Amino acid sequence: MLVRLAAVVSVSGGLGFLLGVETSNTDVKSRLWNLICRGPHNSSVESEIYDNAQKSFTPSWYQFLPVSASVFAASVPVDKSLQVAPSSAIESPTYRVGEIMQYGYPGMDTVRFHGDFVVSYDRRNRVPHWVFEHIKKENCAYGEGVDRNKCGGFREDETIHPYFRSTNADYKQSGYDRGHLAAASNHRQSLKAMNETFVLSNIAPQVGAGFNRGIWNSLEKYTRALARKNRCVYICTGPLYLPRKDIDGKLYVKYEVIGANHVAVPTHFFKVLVVENEKGEYEMKSFVLPNAPMSEEIPLKAFQTPIETIERAAGLLLFEKIPRKRFRRINGDVPK
Ligand SMILES: *[C@@H]1O[C@H](CO)[C@@H](O)[C@H](O)[C@H]1NC(C)=O
Ligand SMILES: *[C@@H]1O[C@H](CO)[C@@H](O)[C@H](O)[C@H]1NC(C)=O
Repeated sequence: MLVRLAAVVSVSGGLGFLLGVETSNTDVKSRLWNLICRGPHNSSVESEIYDNAQKSFTPSWYQFLPVSASVFAASVPVDKSLQVAPSSAIESPTYRVGEIMQYGYPGMDTVRFHGDFVVSYDRRNRVPHWVFEHIKKENCAYGEGVDRNKCGGFREDETIHPYFRSTNADYKQSGYDRGHLAAASNHRQSLKAMNETFVLSNIAPQVGAGFNRGIWNSLEKYTRALARKNRCVYICTGPLYLPRKDIDGKLYVKYEVIGANHVAVPTHFFKVLVVENEKGEYEMKSFVLPNAPMSEEIPLKAFQTPIETIERAAGLLLFEKIPRKRFRRINGDVPK
């Protein structure tokens, strides 16, 4: 196990979540630990993420999958009355927002509505606080003539005061990608819908090779695969700024800022998925990934993080209107 582990790490410059493959070798452990977090750190949040990753990686994790879950879920149907709308209303923007946001706003700071997603913008950090989407298979299937190269390209959000806007110049030569939080490919049904995702208030600096163009992309693809196989998926995505322990033993939050507008480079990103299947049952999967290059060999499951951990770290309540007991599973477990 250790040999394989070390090999993956040296190839990828990768990530300590792999540590879950139980190793008692503390040297390898601390090396990997440092790789996850790029430097000295030791916060309770990261420990929790790490512990959880470790748990989900133990070969026996799948034995804990619930046997009685479907019986439980069937006896507690989710109240769908709010979703019922006359068909003429389906096309209306107000109805769409109601549908995307029906399980609650994580926060109300500087909210912007688009045709197919909703953003709350962090004016201090010049990146989103959170982005909410609701996708079905139609959203991820290419509409006629839809092509990301035909979109107008990344542009400033003119609804944000110029003091607080991020600009293309901020990202230029920063070394970071302009990472979509509502992914362009989740909105392929029309050029208009895809074009809207290119507004810079939906964008945050992401490490390109090995992250935005690697494992983060895999997570987005996984999300679309779930949307194709189920009735729909609700998605909340956002940045995190996690503390690390410095050499003086105290915790600090340290993150880079880029460009003249000091656009924050998040240390991590979260993505929380609520999958509704054809029977109307709900399942939640919540992930935290470090904004760092990683091996794509790492299974996405290794990044599953308890929803409460994400909420505490982000200062947001996520899917507050769905009682946790109504989920058939949360990260593979029957909720208590
Ligand atoms: C983090 O801190 C805890 C408590 O202070 C300690 O037990 C643990 O070993 C530390 N972990 C690392 C990786 O330094
Ligand atoms: C994309 O959106 C911007 C801003 O609304 C608009 O100016 C531009 O014409 C759009 N481009 C396309 C190809 O729809």
